Amino acid sequence: MAPRRIAASFSAAFLLLLPAVASGGLSSYFGTKSRYEEVNPHLVQDPLSLGPTVAGSRLPAPCTPLQLRAVLRHGTRYPTTGQIRRLGELHARLLRRPAAAAAACPAAADLAAWQMWYEESLDGRLAPQGRRDMEHLARRLAARFPALFASRHRLVLASSSKHRCLQSGDAFRRGLGPSLSLSGHEIEIEVNDSLMRFFDHCAKFVALVEENEAAMCQVNAFKEGPEMKEVLEKVASALCLPVEELNADLVQVAFLTCSYELAIKNVTSPWCLLFSEEDAKVLEYLNDLKQYWKRGYGYDINSRSSCILFQDIFQHLDKVVEESKSSKPISSPLIVQVGHAETLQPLLALMGFFRDAEPLKANNYIRQMHRKFRSGQIVPYAANLVFVLYHCDQVKTPKEEYQVQMLLNEKLMLFHHSNETISTYADLKDYYKDILENCHFKEECELPKVNITAVDEL
Ligand SMILES: *[C@@H]1O[C@H](CO)[C@@H](O)[C@H](O)[C@H]1NC(C)=O
Ligand SMILES: *[C@@H]1O[C@H](CO)[C@@H](O)[C@H](O)[C@H]1NC(C)=O
Ligand SMILES: *[C@@H]1O[C@H](CO)[C@@H](O)[C@H](O)[C@H]1NC(C)=O
Ligand SMILES: *[C@@H]1O[C@H](CO)[C@@H](O)[C@H](O)[C@H]1NC(C)=O
Repeated sequence: MAPRRIAASFSAAFLLLLPAVASGGLSSYFGTKSRYEEVNPHLVQDPLSLGPTVAGSRLPAPCTPLQLRAVLRHGTRYPTTGQIRRLGELHARLLRRPAAAAAACPAAADLAAWQMWYEESLDGRLAPQGRRDMEHLARRLAARFPALFASRHRLVLASSSKHRCLQSGDAFRRGLGPSLSLSGHEIEIEVNDSLMRFFDHCAKFVALVEENEAAMCQVNAFKEGPEMKEVLEKVASALCLPVEELNADLVQVAFLTCSYELAIKNVTSPWCLLFSEEDAKVLEYLNDLKQYWKRGYGYDINSRSSCILFQDIFQHLDKVVEESKSSKPISSPLIVQVGHAETLQPLLALMGFFRDAEPLKANNYIRQMHRKFRSGQIVPYAANLVFVLYHCDQVKTPKEEYQVQMLLNEKLMLFHHSNETISTYADLKDYYKDILENCHFKEECELPKVNITAVDEL
C-alpha cells in the first residue's frame, strides 16, 4: 500500500473546550438529549459535510491508517416508557383544568391543544432521525478515512443488545453502501453486552450507585434547591397551576419533551415556551449532575467499570502493531461498536477527559457555569469516540512508527500527556499504563464483603 498523506479535513473547532455555536434557543442545554448537530453545527446545512478544514492538523510524516476503532452512542431515540407515562400525566393534568383557568393562561392552552402522540410502546426505540444520524456518520467517516473504508467488507460490527443500538448498527452498515461482503451476505452484528453495557455487569456499580438512592444525594438536593425552586415557580405560574402540583421530575419531563420534539421531529414545540434560557441552564445542570454522579467522576467505580472496554481497545491496537511489524495483513482494520451515552461517559472519565477542578454539586451551580463536564457537548445522540492507529514512514525514532489520534464527535482530541492531537502509540500506552495493567474488571466490580451503603465510603 502506498503511503498516503492524511488529508487535513478536521474541523477547526477541534479544541473541545470551546463552546459550540448554539443553534438558537434552548437547544444547547439539552444534555444527553442533544442533537448531534449541536456539536457540529455545519451539519445542519449539509449532513455529509466534513466541516471547515484546518491547516496544522497534518501529521508530521507520511502516515497510513491501519485501524479505526469507533465506539458510538446510538442515534436519536424516542422517549422511554417512564418518560412517556410522566408526560401523559402532566398533559392530562393540563387538560383537566376548568376552561376559565385555561383562558387566563395562553401557555397552558397551547399545551392542552398539543397532541400527545407518544405511545408507551415507543420505549426508547431508534427514531427515523436516529437512522439518518447513523447513515450520515458512516458516510462521513468513510469520506475521512477512504483507505480504511475501502476494505469495509472486513468491518467488525458489535452492539449492545438494546434494540436502538442494533438498529443503529444496521443503519451504520447501510450508510456504507449495499453489498458489503464479497459473498453478498450482510455483515453480522455481534451482540456484546459485557463490552457495551459493562455497567449492568458490574455488581459493585449496580449495588452502590445504580440502586443506591443515597448515591444520588447531590442530584436530589439540587431538585429541592433554590435554582430549581425558581424554575418550578415560573413554570407553575405560566401554567396557572399551584406550585404544589408540580415537582422537579414533571418540569424535567416538560423540558425533555421540548428536546425530543426538536431531535425527533425538527420542530420547536409549545413545551419549549415554558422555559427561558436561564431555566434551561438550570435543567441542563440537573441532567449533568446525574451524569456526573452516575456515569462520570462522582464515584470511581463509574469509570473503573469501563476498563474492560478500554483494555479491549488496546488489545486490538496491540494486535495491529504486531501484525504490521511482521508484515501480515491487518485482520481487523475497522471495528465499530454501538452502545450508549452510559458506555462513552465512563470511558472518557477513565481516560481523564472533561474533568473539572471541583466536583459538580447541588450547591455550586454558579461556580460550575463554565464547567468542562457538559453532557450535551460530550455525548449527544450519535456521539462517537474514534481511535485511529497509523503507521508512519520516514520517522526519526522507531517508536514514532506507530502513532494514534483520537476523535470525539469527529473532532481531534488533545492528549493529556502531550497536549497534542497525535501521540506515539508507545507514549499513549505508557500514560495509561496503570489502567492497562492494574484495572481488572472482575476485581473492581466485586461487591465489598462489608456492608457499605454510606456514600462517603464509595
Ligand atoms: C465480548 O467481547 C469480549 C472482549 O473482546 C470477549 O472476550 C467476549 O467473548 C465477547 N462476548 C461475546 C458474547 O461475544
Ligand atoms: C429543520 O427545520 C429547519 C427550520 O425549520 C429547516 O431549515 C431544516 O431544513 C430542517 N431540517 C431537516 C433535516 O428537515
Ligand atoms: C495546548 O495547546 C494549545 C494549542 O495547541 C495551546 O493553546 C494551549 O496553551 C496548550 N496548553 C498547554 C497546557 O500547554
Ligand atoms: C446493609 O445495611 C443497610 C442499613 O444499614 C441495610 O438496610 C441492608 O439491608 C444491609 N444489606 C445487607 C446486604 O446486609
